[in-house]
Amino acid sequence: MTTLPLSQLSLLRKLQCPSCGKNYSPRLLQTFATCCNQPLVAEYALASEPLVVEDTGSMWRYAHYLPLFDVKNRVTLGEGLTPIVEWPTLANRYGLRHLLIKDESGNPTGSFKARGLSMAVSKALELGIEELVIPTAGNAGGALSAYARAAGLHATVIMPKDTPEHFKETCEKYGANLIQVSGMINACGRIASEIQAKRGAFNLATMKEPYRLEGKKTMGYEIFEQLTDQLPDVILYPTGGGTGLIGIWKAFQELAQMGLLSPEKFPRMVAVQAEGCAPIADRIRGVQSSPEDYTMSIAYGLSVPQAFAADLIVRVIRESDGEVVTVSDREIIKGINEIGLSENLSICPEGAAVWEGLKKLISENKIQPSERVLLLNTGAGYPM
Ligand SMILES: Cc1ncc(COP(=O)(O)O)c(C=O)c1O
Ligand SMILES: [Zn+2]
Repeated sequence: MTTLPLSQLSLLRKLQCPSCGKNYSPRLLQTFATCCNQPLVAEYALASEPLVVEDTGSMWRYAHYLPLFDVKNRVTLGEGLTPIVEWPTLANRYGLRHLLIKDESGNPTGSFKARGLSMAVSKALELGIEELVIPTAGNAGGALSAYARAAGLHATVIMPKDTPEHFKETCEKYGANLIQVSGMINACGRIASEIQAKRGAFNLATMKEPYRLEGKKTMGYEIFEQLTDQLPDVILYPTGGGTGLIGIWKAFQELAQMGLLSPEKFPRMVAVQAEGCAPIADRIRGVQSSPEDYTMSIAYGLSVPQAFAADLIVRVIRESDGEVVTVSDREIIKGINEIGLSENLSICPEGAAVWEGLKKLISENKIQPSERVLLLNTGAGYPM
């Protein structure tokens, strides 16, 4: 481990448009790549520095490869460094030789969203922002509320009114201003843009600012550290806005650029979507669709009818030789019950969706039972 002067912790060099390569300064407040209407992607001076800079017991151990310049702005509640576990009963029942689960349920506020919001709120503090707004399917709102409170910043959370009470209570508990809206997350996004325009609040909508992705990326770094020589053949991820899928893939690419990981070892990346809200699946399958075609799933995090980062999500699936699979709400409920009864776990619908997606791809011969499979369980179970 190195002890660098604190101000030199981050090796961030620029923010870049993934379409045309235009550079944006990371020292200024940025949103997205307005040149091509794409998310902005952080680029680092990826040297042969050690991967772990500080043994923080959290995702901040990778501070070199995270975008925060000054450690005094770090807003942390102990996010990340989550375990990889097994589901032995289910693995036996289905003859799965190497089934692993990256379990994000122990994160602050109960989901992997803590990683992205720890990062984005820290950067907001560094950039002198005082007021934040977020459209959310549920978990990101709770995470923002907690981190904004820890940072002493004001947060407004915009959530579909049909979201379970559990998510609303988390926001209120941490003192955020909660606005409930009819419709899905895209309707919430429109209100967030209005608040941004009217009040100057910084909008943390998925992939409309560059830093939540950097927090999510740490899942990929951890998977690499935890499994090193035995990386999975395939990773299944519940995909809504796509930050996690894109982030894990970005981590693998950065590790390859650092010379730590050979591209032949990159896993195939599978996006799992809800049957009733599957814009990425439809695009990959060549089905024409519009956001109005989609409805809310009980996997609220998958109820994203139009992902701003759709081009990047599709790129990850294609580059990794991956797949997309859809599961119905009925299958998700079956999955929650099956995992609950077999492994004594209360699981979130998105985690159950991934399990059901795996079974489907095995039955279609697209994943072999002998392969090393890693599922992302992105959050904790809650009363439904
Ligand atoms: C539990 C859970 N899983 C998965 C997702 C989808 O996240 P992503 O934006 O990374 O696709 C969400 C988003 O709300 C979520 O809350
Ligand atoms: Zn561009």
